Amino acid sequence: MARQISTRDLTPGMRLGRALYDEHGHVLLQRGVELRGSYIKRVQERFAVVMIDDDGYEDISVEDTVPGELRNEMQVSLLKEWTRIAQDANFEKITLSKDFARSLRDQVRNLLTIAKDTKVIQEDLSSLASYDNSTYVHSVNVAIYALLIGDALKLPESMLMELGIGALLHDIGKLWIPVDILQKPAVLTDAEMALMRSHAAVGHDVLSRQGELSYLVAHCAFQHHERLDGSGYPRALAGNDIHQFGKILAVADIYDSMVMHRPYRAGISPSAVMEYLFSKADTELDLQLVAWFSQRVAMYPVGAEVTLSTRQTAVVSHITPSLPARPVVRIIRDPDGQRVPPYDLDLSTSLNVTITGTTSGITVLDIID
Ligand SMILES: [Fe+2]
Repeated sequence: MARQISTRDLTPGMRLGRALYDEHGHVLLQRGVELRGSYIKRVQERFAVVMIDDDGYEDISVEDTVPGELRNEMQVSLLKEWTRIAQDANFEKITLSKDFARSLRDQVRNLLTIAKDTKVIQEDLSSLASYDNSTYVHSVNVAIYALLIGDALKLPESMLMELGIGALLHDIGKLWIPVDILQKPAVLTDAEMALMRSHAAVGHDVLSRQGELSYLVAHCAFQHHERLDGSGYPRALAGNDIHQFGKILAVADIYDSMVMHRPYRAGISPSAVMEYLFSKADTELDLQLVAWFSQRVAMYPVGAEVTLSTRQTAVVSHITPSLPARPVVRIIRDPDGQRVPPYDLDLSTSLNVTITGTTSGITVLDIID
């Protein structure tokens, strides 16, 4: 891996720093492939950002938080099951397959082990999504984020299993919302908004009818859009009327939704979203949960390009788990924007230098989902 760039900035000759997959888990392009004009166009059609390897960055690497094989397995099994049940005309009788329910448990058990072993997520998980598979990448991302928060809270293993399964299925109700509303790149009308918001109750409806799943899993779908101050939906629950899982999922879901790139807008930078979460803590969100989350997810992921208070440009090259907000950065351009021979600066010791912004991702917070 190396540094993350917008696919708009790809130029012929650049080499991919991470393999790209389609929604079925098949490799589209291997790591190390040199991008030519025709490849670049294909990549731009499907991806907002990619990792590239180029001179001076080869040693910058971050391991996949969720190993590619497990992530693919989870995303593809969600894709297959959701495609199957979405075609079932008899909504009242929709039944998740026994195989799917069993594999969910196995997958979440693996994800839980990963969450317990991960001190800080160092990569930008939204960069793994293509426009085609963002729903499934989002589901897995929300699950790992929710489990990190649940682990920080020291929830018992049995509860963490329910939380992980609920997180994977929290948006299942969107299967019954028209795609043109889900992907509308403009403000929804009142009627469209009401339909969009129905996905929480619809998801609860479907999940609560599954004998294989607990009421807690169904409530993850029901409550993930509730907000502490009663401003959420579908029931405008407030305070402790919202289950702890609803509060956890609110944090995980907002974060991943805002960071995620869409065909109609770039993703918002992780640091800007983290600030947004804090700005909503204790009104809409639980401050303690936001605080735990911020300690387990790097606001400046490895590979992100950042600007410094010295007006130099740098790429995050290493994260110290005890101090994720002060990473080691590799200076690549001087204050005038001229390339310089790359060198590392450790912001955990060079405390007079601060990160002032990120060059990828937008910082506007006018998000409707
Ligand atoms: Fe949702």
